[in-house]
Amino acid sequence: MTGMHSGESAAGALPAPDGDVTIREATLGDLPGMARVHVDGWKTAYRGIVPDRILDPLTVEIDLASGFGRGLTEPRIGAVQYVAVTSSEEVLGYAFGGPNREPRPGLDGELEALYVMSSHRGRGFGTRLVGAVARFLLSTDRVGMIVWVLAENPYRRFYERLGGAPLGTRQGAPHRLGGGPLEEVGYGWADLRQLAGEPPNTPASRSV
Ligand SMILES: CC(C)(COP(=O)(O)OP(=O)(O)OC[C@H]1O[C@@H](n2cnc3c(N)ncnc32)[C@H](O)[C@@H]1OP(=O)(O)O)[C@@H](O)C(=O)NCCC(=O)NCCS
Repeated sequence: MTGMHSGESAAGALPAPDGDVTIREATLGDLPGMARVHVDGWKTAYRGIVPDRILDPLTVEIDLASGFGRGLTEPRIGAVQYVAVTSSEEVLGYAFGGPNREPRPGLDGELEALYVMSSHRGRGFGTRLVGAVARFLLSTDRVGMIVWVLAENPYRRFYERLGGAPLGTRQGAPHRLGGGPLEEVGYGWADLRQLAGEPPNTPASRSV
């Protein structure tokens, strides 16, 4: 596993106290911060999986120009985007959820994306973001959830830790940033209530 609990600090800066981190719905103003987390996620989780010629030049500007954020500017019906933010509104992570894009009996919801800044992994923010998506999906009458993750991504173990049942593999579509198609593995939760609990000692969120 790479990156887990590594995270005390990327550049020597002190991280914000974890108690100050809130999960709330994303706004357009969060887009640059979300793209920063996305680019960091690609460069740390996909090294050795996605070619260096794609990862090395990747910047927030390229990510935004190639369509990151379309989910916010052209939202899908029934979809949601959450961010984990510090009290100074720094985006540390985000999660996208919505109806399963490939409907399956019992697995009618989908976790479409989940990223936490490499400097802040292993502190429960990923779990809190998944919980927020699960509660949203439950509120829209979904009962289950699927997620697809690159088969070679070491962070897929996170979903196993959260109780996701392996569902087999598929050949993913080529990504807008390039690379692929790459094999993906699916994980499923038949009962979203498994995931919906908020861990203890976390501040009440503003909007979740
Ligand atoms: C996957 C990711 C979102 C998890 O977020 P996180 O905030 O680090 O996760 P949490 O701190 O909530 O971890 C929850 C549990 O999963 C475990 N876990 C997390 N990543 C793990 C890994 N790579 N291998 C094994 N266990 C892992 C944690 O140890 C923790 O277990 P614990 O409760 O026993 O301590 C984050 O690591 C990340 O952004 N990774 C890179 C991007 C990525 O691969 N996203 C998923 C594919 S879209």
